[in-house]
Amino acid sequence: MAKNLQDTTTLNNGVKMPWLGLGVFKVEDGNEVINSVKAAIKNGYRSIDTAAVYDNETGVGIGIREGLKEAGISREDLFVTSKVWNSDFGYETTLAAFETSLKKLGLDYLDLYLIHWPVEGKYKDTWRALETLYKDGKIKAIGVSNFQIHHLEDLLKDAEIKPMVNQVECHPLLSQKELLAYCKDKGIQLEAWSPLAQGQLLDHPVLQEIASKYNKSIAQVILRWDLQNGVVTIPKSIKEHRIIENATIFDFELSSDDMERIDSLNQNHRVGPDPDNFDF
Ligand SMILES: NC(=O)c1ccc[n+]([C@@H]2O[C@H](COP(=O)([O-])OP(=O)(O)OC[C@H]3O[C@@H](n4cnc5c(N)ncnc54)[C@H](OP(=O)(O)O)[C@@H]3O)[C@@H](O)[C@H]2O)c1
Repeated sequence: MAKNLQDTTTLNNGVKMPWLGLGVFKVEDGNEVINSVKAAIKNGYRSIDTAAVYDNETGVGIGIREGLKEAGISREDLFVTSKVWNSDFGYETTLAAFETSLKKLGLDYLDLYLIHWPVEGKYKDTWRALETLYKDGKIKAIGVSNFQIHHLEDLLKDAEIKPMVNQVECHPLLSQKELLAYCKDKGIQLEAWSPLAQGQLLDHPVLQEIASKYNKSIAQVILRWDLQNGVVTIPKSIKEHRIIENATIFDFELSSDDMERIDSLNQNHRVGPDPDNFDF
């Protein structure tokens, strides 16, 4: 079990990925994202999750450079994720989109690059491009996002390289137990997006009761539940005190009873789009 903020899970290719990272969806490019990334690095985060479509890779890059300098650590100490957006899917277009992301971020490699959504008929060519980039050493690990079991099965039929990560919506209202078990079986690390259900769970009475028992916040209880389930988690906050709060989850352990109580809150309820029914 992870003991501190910089502890890592080992992906199926041997690459180490921190259990906790900072998400920057809907964080404005410029000072807002620069300050969030810097605050995260300053407070010990070693993983940042962005995407081309978030339109903040330039600011993320500045935050990374300034954050690393302030913390006195090097690029290799950080795990940076980005994602290829749906409109860039296809082999050549993905190769080009990757270069654009890298340039905006001001980096010469990515730690993880993901296919953002399983667009039917397009994700296999996109995957081939990720395999090429991986083999060329430009990405340390490659993966997918929003893939259901059937998407993974389909991809695996033709993939030369198995995805190392699947990043999906996951929180107590959408616990993803079946997908988690499938991914564990295949050696694919599950990663939770919107782990806090974008704030919708932060007054839940059962979670509040559990949180009070451990003298923790609801956010901390949820993020701890992720860790104890073997799920990588990337809460987003632009506020330093919450960035710190969300990382203070390595000093307590939820009992198996409380883990089960949280599991029982599942309603298969999504706060984001359904990977089997989206039109973008
Ligand atoms: N692959 C995908 O398709 C996909 C989709 C969505 C998200 N993601 C990734 O997952 C990351 C996280 O998901 P998310 O941003 O959608 O939502 P989230 O992390 O579940 O929730 C973020 C919201 O909760 C608030 N918050 C954070 N910590 C808090 C705390 N300790 N107490 C109270 N409120 C708190 C934040 O507000 P403040 O900022 O004001 O603190 C923000 O409004 C994203 O940033 C992105 O990197 C990926």
